[in-house]
Amino acid sequence: MAKPSFSCSACGASFTKWSGRCEDCGEWNTIGQYAGLSVGPAKTSLGAKRGRAVTLTDLASDETPPPRACSGIDELDRVLGGGLVPASAILVGGDPGIGKSTLLLQAAAAFARKGLKTLYVSGEEASAQVRMRARRLGLADAPVQLAAETNLRDILTTLEAEKPGLVIIDSIQTMWADNVDSAPGSVSQVRASAHELTTFAKRTGISVIMVGHVTKDGQIAGPRVVEHMVDTVLYFEGERGHQFRILRSVKNRFGAADEIGVFEMTGAGLAEVTNPSALFLSERGTPSPGSVVFAGIEGTRPVLVELQALVAPSPHSQPRRTVVGWDGGRLAMILAVLEARCGIPFAGLDVYLNVAGGLKISEPAADLAVAAALLSAREDQALPADTVVFGEISLSGALRPASQTENRLKEAQKLGFTSAIAPAGGKTAAGTDIALKRPSDLVGFVGEFFGA
Ligand code: TYD
Ligand code: MG
Repeated sequence: MAKPSFSCSACGASFTKWSGRCEDCGEWNTIGQYAGLSVGPAKTSLGAKRGRAVTLTDLASDETPPPRACSGIDELDRVLGGGLVPASAILVGGDPGIGKSTLLLQAAAAFARKGLKTLYVSGEEASAQVRMRARRLGLADAPVQLAAETNLRDILTTLEAEKPGLVIIDSIQTMWADNVDSAPGSVSQVRASAHELTTFAKRTGISVIMVGHVTKDGQIAGPRVVEHMVDTVLYFEGERGHQFRILRSVKNRFGAADEIGVFEMTGAGLAEVTNPSALFLSERGTPSPGSVVFAGIEGTRPVLVELQALVAPSPHSQPRRTVVGWDGGRLAMILAVLEARCGIPFAGLDVYLNVAGGLKISEPAADLAVAAALLSAREDQALPADTVVFGEISLSGALRPASQTENRLKEAQKLGFTSAIAPAGGKTAAGTDIALKRPSDLVGFVGEFFGA
């Protein structure tokens, strides 16, 4: 059999010949030739230490789980699931320049000040540069240990000697393991380095946070395999032009996925935003057509955010559909349902949809708010300013209630809203003073709020 000598830079799958599209993960233009993997011979075929199996009940009785370490940065601790679990491996992904190094240096300082011995390993900057950044962030006196190193073997040796509670690797793409014969940043190097660091974490009880750069299409550069290896995957996201940054857990073995922490990038580093709804609505002017406030849930927390739509006659034969912060496919579906079930065509019209503040929404409960924004823009008719909207739309034009109605309504009330539009059949507004309007289907909704 021929030896595979091509591999996919997204998922790491190996192939014997080049092709434009990876058969494994479906990505385009990710197959490249690779020099081959030369891994040193296995040292022994059998481990010297005997394995030990314990019954679950024994474990429960004699070992209480070790306490989580908290940084005191609440937005970070919550996204981690309530603090850092000892011996856990965490991947923090994000676009270059979004603020990962800033966030993790602040986190390192915070953990160190709480008494957790912390080592910050930079493979991208010299120690002097990291120190300069720390000074700018007002962290120069934090008891963090710094190392500028890319050789994985040297890092592991240092860790054995220093025995910190937490090590931060910035970034995994700069790490270099000497038993793998390819360049730093390649799939095999990243995979080998992440694997060694993860197993090292499990063996020694040291928590490891790895930084990973994300490619332009949103994948953690190179191997998705790293995501499978680690316990927790966090994404640090935001729009370049905005000062808001969102730390989102996409996978967490020790807490809720989809939890978000909100930060603001300031001249002196990242500041926590404890009330994101107020922040996302702060730029909102007088109510205008196309603007609708969606009462969403991110993780365990309700978040109100403004959706903005613009509908204009298109000069193109193929009208534009442009979305920022939401799923383009989902927008197409809403437009199709509005056309097929309510007889409201969008043919010949350009449609733009934007989630204000740089937040990315994935909840289906945003459907009704999106439909409201589109209709409001198309009919040039604003919804009352004190109204929030949420609910899912099905292909039949029926409306489905969203989860956590009460939390959404309570948050809306807290921010001064007095009415809400949500599908019939869900919970009532009991416990709040919100006036709840409950259309039974999309046709009813259109008739009630955008009727002629
Ligand atoms: P950085 O943490 O280096 O990004 P990453 O590690 O994800 O590549 O952040 C770089 C950006 O952050 C840079 O454009 C400058 C900005 N920044 C501030 O606005 N304020 C600050 O206090 C710091 C340290 C950086
Ligand atoms: Mg960086």
